[in-house]
Amino acid sequence: MSLLMTMINLVLLLSIFILFVQVFPEEAALRPNVVNVGAIFSFDTINGKVAKVAMKAAEDDINSDPSILGGRKLFVALHDSNYSSFLSFIGALQFMETDTVAIIGPQSSVMAHVLSHLANELHVPLLSFTALDPGLSPLQYPFFVQTAPNDEFQMIAIAEMVSYFGWAEVIAVFSDDNQNRNGIIMLDDQLAERRCRISYKATLPPDPMAKRSDVLRELAKIQMMESRVIVLNTFSKTGLLVFEVAKSLGMMEKGYVWIASTWLSTVLDSTSPLKPETANSIRGALTLRPHTPDSKRKRDFISRWNQLSNGSIGLNPYGLFAYDTVWMIARAVKLLFDQGGNISFSNDERLISLTGMDLNLSALSIFDGGKQLLKNVIETKMTGLTGPVRFNQDRFLINPSYDIINTVETGYRQVGYWSNHSGLSIVPPETLYGKKPNRSSSNQHLDSVVWPGGETIKPRGWVFPNNGRELRIVVPNRVSYRDFVSVVNGTNKVQGYCIDVFLAAIKLMPYAVPYRFIPFGNGHENPSYYELVSKIAAGVSIQHIESATGFLNNKNDK
Ligand SMILES: *[C@@H]1O[C@H](CO)[C@@H](O)[C@H](O)[C@H]1NC(C)=O
Ligand SMILES: *[C@@H]1O[C@H](CO)[C@@H](O)[C@H](O)[C@H]1NC(C)=O
Ligand SMILES: *[C@@H]1O[C@H](CO)[C@@H](O)[C@H](O)[C@H]1NC(C)=O
Ligand SMILES: *[C@@H]1O[C@H](CO)[C@@H](O)[C@H](O)[C@H]1NC(C)=O
Ligand SMILES: *[C@@H]1O[C@H](CO)[C@@H](O)[C@H](O)[C@H]1NC(C)=O
Ligand SMILES: *[C@@H]1O[C@H](CO)[C@@H](O)[C@H](O)[C@H]1NC(C)=O
Ligand SMILES: *[C@@H]1O[C@H](CO)[C@@H](O)[C@H](O)[C@H]1NC(C)=O
Repeated sequence: MSLLMTMINLVLLLSIFILFVQVFPEEAALRPNVVNVGAIFSFDTINGKVAKVAMKAAEDDINSDPSILGGRKLFVALHDSNYSSFLSFIGALQFMETDTVAIIGPQSSVMAHVLSHLANELHVPLLSFTALDPGLSPLQYPFFVQTAPNDEFQMIAIAEMVSYFGWAEVIAVFSDDNQNRNGIIMLDDQLAERRCRISYKATLPPDPMAKRSDVLRELAKIQMMESRVIVLNTFSKTGLLVFEVAKSLGMMEKGYVWIASTWLSTVLDSTSPLKPETANSIRGALTLRPHTPDSKRKRDFISRWNQLSNGSIGLNPYGLFAYDTVWMIARAVKLLFDQGGNISFSNDERLISLTGMDLNLSALSIFDGGKQLLKNVIETKMTGLTGPVRFNQDRFLINPSYDIINTVETGYRQVGYWSNHSGLSIVPPETLYGKKPNRSSSNQHLDSVVWPGGETIKPRGWVFPNNGRELRIVVPNRVSYRDFVSVVNGTNKVQGYCIDVFLAAIKLMPYAVPYRFIPFGNGHENPSYYELVSKIAAGVSIQHIESATGFLNNKNDK
């Protein structure tokens, strides 16, 4: 479904919903001592669970320091969208009726595209650290701010890994939603700049809708293809299913390369211990994790985590981004107050003019300080749990970087880093920020990787297609011009100038090509090419050609 269709449907939903909106008197919603922030997530996902704990921790920390909001309380209201666009939309409307100054979320990029229009109209900033679609541009969606690195950088990192390992082609497996699809488009562009390409794009239904049969169908196709390098851009439910099916098809064996986007590191960080069959199916993969520099604040937060979460979920970097995002809002609100602003809302003239339609839209009001608050958010300069937090002129967080992780027998090990500043390195990127960037290939490094099947030699990333079926070469068993090509009398060995040239060429191939010579002809007269070609054209099997020669027939073969 196109974005436009989604939009139209949701605008229709809005109209219907507004008919039933419970209209609050404006004064009741206006509680001057509370700063309302909304959060829209699917709280049964890993990142939903982590975000919930982290946002509440930030709320507590902010409220325990009266110097931040001058005696006012920050309140983060949670709305569970439960994977539903409809519920995300209703949640946003509810928040916008109750004088909410900012909304954290939505979790998915699909909803971010839609809610951004609402945010633009009502001047309520949307801050998301999970909707990282490269297609969500600040020009089109001014009130939408990404508070974690945009997926564009993850795709550059993957393209640089592919190029570093010297693979020419990859297969992309992805969920067909805005974020993952736009990520793959970005990856394609980035690979093209490095003379690599995506040879096949396997599309799965949006997470979590993909079924085993969908995955099986796509992986079976991929098995027959040449490339053995698979980039898996999806979310965790679909991602784990893909690995499980791949394992069952023998695609987690020697020769394969799997690069999974950040969803896999999120699973590794937040699910401990992994189920043994899960651990088994992901072994040998590479994945990325947003990099956050080590700091005392981060270590302190990590040590608080068990208590904050009651051990219900492991911390991952998105928890750190969630915590920092709440602080970003609190600081921007504090600045708004310092600038003499207040939290007030007014009627949207455009909505009021619609009242003739029996819709009472005046409950949705414009946040007067919204533009200023947005400006304050974008001009954030703080040191958070994720390190220095600032946006560049394109409104990207500065210093996007990732940890590169290899899943191994005992869990995982980090094999290096990628940063927008220095590319691939085995030292933390922040140690390189003071130096001039050096992207020459001799300056790009990663530690050794243990690939699927326990392989330690870098897979060549390519096999002869069709599951390694061999190249079959019919050789005329000639009686004249035998120097060019002939079959050694009484054997099935072939020789001659043509054979020598062929063998020399095969040796030059960068990958192994299995082949077999099949002599054709009875050895007493030159074989008829016409007969051979018509046999091949008629689809006569090789066994029949072989037996027609009489040469390789067991009973004649000495
Ligand atoms: C989420 O939706 C599913 C059905 O789509 C329902 O079974 C489940 O109870 C819902 N969960 C919550 C927390 O509302
Ligand atoms: C952890 O337990 C405390 C006390 O029992 C409770 O207040 C808190 O909500 C729990 N947190 C989570 C994330 O379950
Ligand atoms: C809030 O600010 C607006 C102008 O920005 C002003 O008209 C209004 O009186 C202020 N309200 C309060 C309660 O200070
Ligand atoms: C519409 O809502 C506003 C407050 O939000 C209220 O004052 C007004 O009476 C409502 N109008 C109708 C026709 O219900
Ligand atoms: C990433 O690197 C490019 C080229 O070096 C630079 O132009 C861009 O500003 C950087 N982006 C961020 C967000 O640091
Ligand atoms: C970049 O790094 C490589 C290898 O470490 C080095 O040989 C080269 O001189 C460096 N280039 C610059 C411009 O520093
Ligand atoms: C092989 O067979 C051909 C035809 O039967 C004969 O002319 C030739 O001399 C034989 N060559 C050898 C090396 O025996």
